[in-house]
Amino acid sequence: MEKTNGLRVILFPLPLQGCINPMIQLAKILHSRGFSITVIHTRFNAPKASNHPLFTFLQIPDGLSETETRTHDVELLIALLNRNCESPFGDCLSKLLQSVDSETGEEKQRICCLIHDSGWIFTQSLAKSLNLLRLVLSTYTISFFRSHFALPQLRRQMYLPLQDSEQDDPVEEFPPLRKKDILRILDVETESLDSCSEMILKTTKASSGLIFMSCEELEQKSLSQAREDFKIPIFAIGPSHSHFPASSSSLLTPDDTCIPWLDKQEDKSVIYVSIGSIVTISEPELMEFAWGLSNSDQPFLWVVRVGSVNGTEWIETIPEDFIKRLNEKGKIVKWAPQQEVLKHRAIGGFLTHNGWNSTVESVCEGVPMICLPFRWDQMLNARFVSDVWMVGIHLEGRIEMNEIEGAIRRLLLETEGEAIRERIEHLKEKVGRSFKLNGSAYQSLQNLIDYISSF
Ligand code: UDX
Repeated sequence: MEKTNGLRVILFPLPLQGCINPMIQLAKILHSRGFSITVIHTRFNAPKASNHPLFTFLQIPDGLSETETRTHDVELLIALLNRNCESPFGDCLSKLLQSVDSETGEEKQRICCLIHDSGWIFTQSLAKSLNLLRLVLSTYTISFFRSHFALPQLRRQMYLPLQDSEQDDPVEEFPPLRKKDILRILDVETESLDSCSEMILKTTKASSGLIFMSCEELEQKSLSQAREDFKIPIFAIGPSHSHFPASSSSLLTPDDTCIPWLDKQEDKSVIYVSIGSIVTISEPELMEFAWGLSNSDQPFLWVVRVGSVNGTEWIETIPEDFIKRLNEKGKIVKWAPQQEVLKHRAIGGFLTHNGWNSTVESVCEGVPMICLPFRWDQMLNARFVSDVWMVGIHLEGRIEMNEIEGAIRRLLLETEGEAIRERIEHLKEKVGRSFKLNGSAYQSLQNLIDYISSF
């Protein structure tokens, strides 16, 4: 670590696994460049402070009831958090700005900026009144972030049912999405999100900078367009875990027994299956996964999160003799050390929901994907994987045993899979170069550090 530079950055993540990981990564990056770090966080999904002894963590009340913390409705959760946290966050921030850094015994430091998740929409007036530089971190791709503001307009346009012949038509306002993808996004997301989206746009445009965990090598065109759209400095600092592994910010305890299990498997033979930290599936869908994996006859490592199968605790609805059969070929865990898994020589493919973290973690390890997006930005990430970078097979939303079995066999055993593997190796190298001296992500990070240090 470099010597401390006398500057402190305040970070404010949204309390969701996919948002905490990149924010904690950013904290580690900035800390390694001499900044002191304070993370303000909610009680709900609080990051494990003991994993980061060099950072200061300040908890604010979030006013969520026990029932509210168990909701699977992410939009509702974010709306509640925004309503409940404005005042406690304001109090915490004001106190922080007035205080000497007494708890660490360090000399008084200058707080140089606040960096918050794009999902916090009440920060603008607060930071302004405190005369504090404010930057926004988006945990989405640049492409999704800039285009998703077109959703209210698309909702108005696309009220008629699609003809079969139109399903795969491109959506001009939202490349590379197809019309059927937009319908799936609009099907789940309610109109109430439109006003939230408007606030995110306003809060972002009024900020002093926008940070993405993506890079030119992945989204060059969108990056140039975003610079025109937002007219504020944009820092595409690259997939964050390429700087530091994200495992320390895991909210669930990973089952490390998967690593010795993987050690026993052949190179590039195992399909890793995970649908991330938010998505849930139905009981019949769980069975389709189980049969698809079993029938593929390939080794698999399958993450089934506790509570991710609607109406059940875990996998108790799978009959015992079938579980026995599954265990002969594969391993089922409740949570995995995902980055370690993806790095493992035995992994040959990743059946993923295409959250942005999972997608870039896979790209950076050169692991080809089977895309099964469920909602929101996952739909766009999956199109990048299958249609733009051509490093994965898209299941087109079909959670069916034959489709799952077929895609696994095509990826692991057939020549189609070999071609995909070659392409993802190239992409991995390209993204890797962006972190090297004078690469795009390297330069962008340097610009960000110079920028926040100069105020
Ligand atoms: C969702 C969105 O889809 C994502 O694009 C958005 O930016 C944040 O919210 P999520 O479902 O959490 O994300 O998926 P993803 O973005 O892939 O993040 C999951 C994280 O959990 C990854 O960093 C992954 O490594 C980690 N993980 C997942 C584990 O450590 N173990 C597991 O078993 C599964």
